[in-house]
Amino acid sequence: TYVVTEVCIKCKYTDCVEVCPVDCFYEGANMLVIHPDECIDCGVCEPECPVDAIKPDTEPELDQWLEVNRQYSETWPNITTKKDAPANADDFVAEPDKFQKYFS
Ligand code: SF4
Ligand code: F3S
Repeated sequence: TYVVTEVCIKCKYTDCVEVCPVDCFYEGANMLVIHPDECIDCGVCEPECPVDAIKPDTEPELDQWLEVNRQYSETWPNITTKKDAPANADDFVAEPDKFQKYFS
């Protein structure tokens, strides 16, 4: 599966949702996640994210993000249409510790 990682938090550009053939993105207040059981591993979303937040779940250090994606995709609403990013999204691209500070 592919997973959305920390860089998405507070950036949320939503380019990714437009290309997913199975519509498996889910939206929180500050981040999107992918439903790991719905993702068909096509990989087309990965290059669409302007901040490289989407990664294939092949690295051990992504286990925590797989869990975040799995847990929150069960309760957050589905999103299939691109929307405007937060007005200050560009200010948060390089922000450290976004999960601790802003995850929602
Ligand atoms: Fe959707 Fe393909 Fe990305 Fe999985 S890898 S979330 S199926 S676009
Ligand atoms: Fe997040 Fe990138 Fe999609 S910032 S909303 S994963 S385009």
